Amino acid sequence: MAISKDLARLPKHVAIIMDGNGRWAKSRGLPRIMGHREGVKAVRSVVRLARELGIQVLTLYAFSQENWNRPRDEVSALMDLLVDYLESELAELLGNRIALRTIGDTDRLPDKVKIRLMETVSKTSVNKEMILNLALSYGGRSEIVRAAKILAGRCLSGEIKLSDIDERLFAGCLYTAGLPDPDLVIRTSGEERLSNFLLFQAAYAEIYVTSTLWPDFAKDDFLAALSEYGKRERKFGLTAEQLAGPCTGKGL
Ligand code: FPP
Repeated sequence: MAISKDLARLPKHVAIIMDGNGRWAKSRGLPRIMGHREGVKAVRSVVRLARELGIQVLTLYAFSQENWNRPRDEVSALMDLLVDYLESELAELLGNRIALRTIGDTDRLPDKVKIRLMETVSKTSVNKEMILNLALSYGGRSEIVRAAKILAGRCLSGEIKLSDIDERLFAGCLYTAGLPDPDLVIRTSGEERLSNFLLFQAAYAEIYVTSTLWPDFAKDDFLAALSEYGKRERKFGLTAEQLAGPCTGKGL
């Protein structure tokens, strides 16, 4: 694939808030689930393009903790879609050497989803070309609280000292332990908020919002987001002069 100049600097980790499925369906007089179903097609094309371009990690916000409060029929249909997706994509994930992982409170998922997930994660775990990370039953605040509890437990048991706790150790207790922080967070459907997504990890992420609804998010939209990322100057709290100079270590 020919890579344009703006795409020469690609993010290692792209995280996407896939929003707008309901509106997509409503505008066509269809039930919401049809929007989610169409959204799966967009997932497929984005995964393919990310893999072709050499993006290392793609995190998709597929189901938030708050989404459990949606109408029971919609939750159940989303769970069915997830099972179908995992079944239909296994061959493609294996063929493209993509490892599937999850972040979130996956214990809450129905058994049929958990079984498929465990199977897909285990069968794809040796794959090294890309990580497809599905955020499922995910909430950033509870992820942070969970990490705090893990560290408090280690302190209480004497395994670590309070003074050992730093950002690195904390990050290692998040669901995303071992993954690079997201460089780029994309949100579709025009909403300009993080919605409890990767609150700790996205501290320095570039944010790209598009008015395109998720089911309409095609390869060109993804390329436009990546191209925009390529033009951004990431400063990590430093001045432009510092960044241009020899000392370009990340600061606060
Ligand atoms: C937000 O749109 C989207 C979701 C809550 C679910 C996202 C799920 C998919 C794209 C399909 C399943 C995913 C995989 C990985 C197989 P919304 O319903 O909040 O849209 P609205 O704001 O327009 O109502």
